[in-house]
Amino acid sequence: MSPILYVQSLRKSYGAREVLRGVSFSLSKGERVALMGPSGSGKSTLLNCIGGIDRPDSGSVILEDADLTEIDATTLDRIRRSRLTHIFQFFHLLPTLSARENIAFPLQLMKTNPKEVEERVSDLLTRIQLEHRADAFPSELSGGEMQRVAIARALSPRPAIIYADEPTGNLDSKTGATILDLIEGLCDETETTLLLVTHSQEATRICRRTLHLLDGQFVN
Ligand SMILES: Nc1ncnc2c1ncn2[C@@H]1O[C@H](COP(=O)(O)OP(=O)(O)OP(=O)(O)O)[C@@H](O)[C@H]1O
Ligand SMILES: [Mg+2]
Repeated sequence: MSPILYVQSLRKSYGAREVLRGVSFSLSKGERVALMGPSGSGKSTLLNCIGGIDRPDSGSVILEDADLTEIDATTLDRIRRSRLTHIFQFFHLLPTLSARENIAFPLQLMKTNPKEVEERVSDLLTRIQLEHRADAFPSELSGGEMQRVAIARALSPRPAIIYADEPTGNLDSKTGATILDLIEGLCDETETTLLLVTHSQEATRICRRTLHLLDGQFVN
């Protein structure tokens, strides 16, 4: 199968410090891959560069035919809203919006019609088993509940790929395991590709392969 994400010879330096030193890999549709490596090895830098948040110094990042390093800012914005989404360790929910509104937010940015928004959001609330907490604000939710909302929000635009940076890093191990099961199940159902940054060997169980980053390069 042809890859949906194709990363070639990525390099990134901060000042004199070369953080990514020629990173290449590809991911196919629906594939789940773990990204591991010691603190400071460049995992978040890599996610930022392939997520259009930061610009690499050289190399290409081709997501579904668009080279994110070359396209104009408007197209990049559109892709970042609809085709690639993120899940973070500290959830990053919008504090003034309810669970339901957080999940709907990416769809509103995409100007999805209200009926479709309503349908997708209630479907996702059911899948994450939080219908009864739909109107709660993030501050009224537990960590595990917040992460379920963040997963639903990441999935609501039906992206091609989700980048998850330590999504269970702030949860106890039992809640973390439940969150991993949820991510695995939902990505399977929707054939969404997942790149999962993790320090936990346990988290790699939902992934088919693991990429190891060391000093800015992949090692075996
Ligand atoms: N904006 C920045 N400016 C300067 N240096 C940076 C910047 N972002 C990251 N770095 C440096 O780049 C290196 C890689 O950082 P990065 O955050 O990618 O590591 P990481 O593998 O995600 O680590 P962790 O597991 O601790 O999250 C580190 O030495 C960090 O200090
Ligand atoms: Mg990091």
